[in-house]
Amino acid sequence: MNQRELWERYRQYLCAAPGIGLQVDISRMMFDEGYLERMAGPMDRALAAMEELEGGAKANVDEDRMVGHYWLRAPELAPNDAIRGDIEKTVAAVREFAGQVHTGAVAPQRGDGFYILLVIGIGGSALGPQLVCDALGQDDDPLIVRFIDNTDPDGIDRVIEELDEELPQTLTVVTSKSGETRESRNAMLEVAAAYQRVGLSFAKHAVAVTCEGSALHQQAVGDQWLHTFPMWDWVGGRTSVLSAAGLLPAALQGIDIDAMLAGARQCDIVTREKNLLRNPAALLSLMWHYSGDGRGVRDMVVLPYRDRLALLGRYLQQLVMESIGKEHSRAGETVHQGLTVYGNKGTTDQHAYLQQLRDGRDDFFVTFINVRHDRDGQSIRVEEDVTTGDYLNAFWQGTRTALCDKGRESISITLDELNARTLGALIALFERTVGLYAELINVNAYDQPGVEAGKKAAGAVLDLQRRVLAHLRDDPKSSRTVEEIVAAIGEPDAVEAVYQILEHAAANPNHGVRRTAGTEPFDARYGMT
Ligand code: PA5
Repeated sequence: MNQRELWERYRQYLCAAPGIGLQVDISRMMFDEGYLERMAGPMDRALAAMEELEGGAKANVDEDRMVGHYWLRAPELAPNDAIRGDIEKTVAAVREFAGQVHTGAVAPQRGDGFYILLVIGIGGSALGPQLVCDALGQDDDPLIVRFIDNTDPDGIDRVIEELDEELPQTLTVVTSKSGETRESRNAMLEVAAAYQRVGLSFAKHAVAVTCEGSALHQQAVGDQWLHTFPMWDWVGGRTSVLSAAGLLPAALQGIDIDAMLAGARQCDIVTREKNLLRNPAALLSLMWHYSGDGRGVRDMVVLPYRDRLALLGRYLQQLVMESIGKEHSRAGETVHQGLTVYGNKGTTDQHAYLQQLRDGRDDFFVTFINVRHDRDGQSIRVEEDVTTGDYLNAFWQGTRTALCDKGRESISITLDELNARTLGALIALFERTVGLYAELINVNAYDQPGVEAGKKAAGAVLDLQRRVLAHLRDDPKSSRTVEEIVAAIGEPDAVEAVYQILEHAAANPNHGVRRTAGTEPFDARYGMT
């Protein structure tokens, strides 16, 4: 297509949603004339299913749960007064608590105020909050935010060492919907120990966000932590950023959570639109379907031309891949569905993998995010009539054109500006897109059996480790090969797992495992020091 034809296509398909400050452009996705018409029926059904879901249907059939993240920004739509009341009370409590922290009414054990916020969580309990924090943080935020989202001892040390003398002024929020997640529990125990080392009570610096009755909830209540905020089984982890999981850190950081909720709420109104040409989420989900042939055969490369949105790709990676990546359809057929998501930011990624996107494998489509407003105030000229922001805009356009010239497809989402309201809208846009796409391909977007499988397998490794250590302790003086150890504990098939356990244990001082090297790596002998 020549430039004039592309312009006509752009005008034909641009879905502008001025009320939420964003536009979706699908003109560089080369679907044929009749495509949208052919998909009108399936999309009607998808929209109807979303209406039922929002009405309180148990859309997460495998876990027998309602799916209510849309009520978080429109509590009046909740299916009963109890849920509505819970949402409203929680948002009010978040505002109140953040206000008390900011004024010093809630203060640490030593000193008059908190000025660092440490958030511990993983998956949906971290990725959304991290995105919001990075996208909207300002120099004069009342609290500086740090995250621990892993059980990596070195990573935990790094954060604790960075906090250093500021630990006494650090408020720690532990977020875990289930209250059982080991990575978050471990990080919490490490952080609690750090407070204790400097003579401080962890409880006097700690807040929990979790479901009532969970292990975390019981601990927080039992130890009298500063506060607990609820999560509910009808909010999935990866769609929990507008529950207390995301709102609390955001409010503590000084972000306008009402604007974020308003943006999401307004986006929900727009994305319930039945006319699919006016519904940006419907168009996005149809483009995912078109591009990947309803089977995710192409990856989605997320390229926001804005440093503050660099975490959007990671956030969407979880939102999309954990929701869409499923073995079975809701009808029970084996489908191995998925939609692979990766990406960091433009222009940076132009100097990384764009070469392949333009000239190499044609196995992707790009979703560009482009923000019109560069910065507050004037910019200097880096060349005649050109600012750094003009360059960013030119690079986005240039990349889009360079790809299009080679028949590589892209979607562009343009935000008027990046603020709490448009970020809320963007989050809601992708949540709805995932919901609609899951309806189109008939998978349950709201469970995550694969995540559970990984947790179970790790539990089995740790059980094995306990048995191996007990066996070595029974006869601490002698040293044995891995084959002798697995034979002795009656687990000959677990030889590789035991080998990895022993090598890791010997590389660290914690369990007193001693390794004597042999001629080959597998001839090493292990005992106790
Ligand atoms: O989206 C999900 O459900 C998961 O990614 C969870 O968010 C993640 O496993 C963390 O779970 P929890 O919040 O229970 O600690």
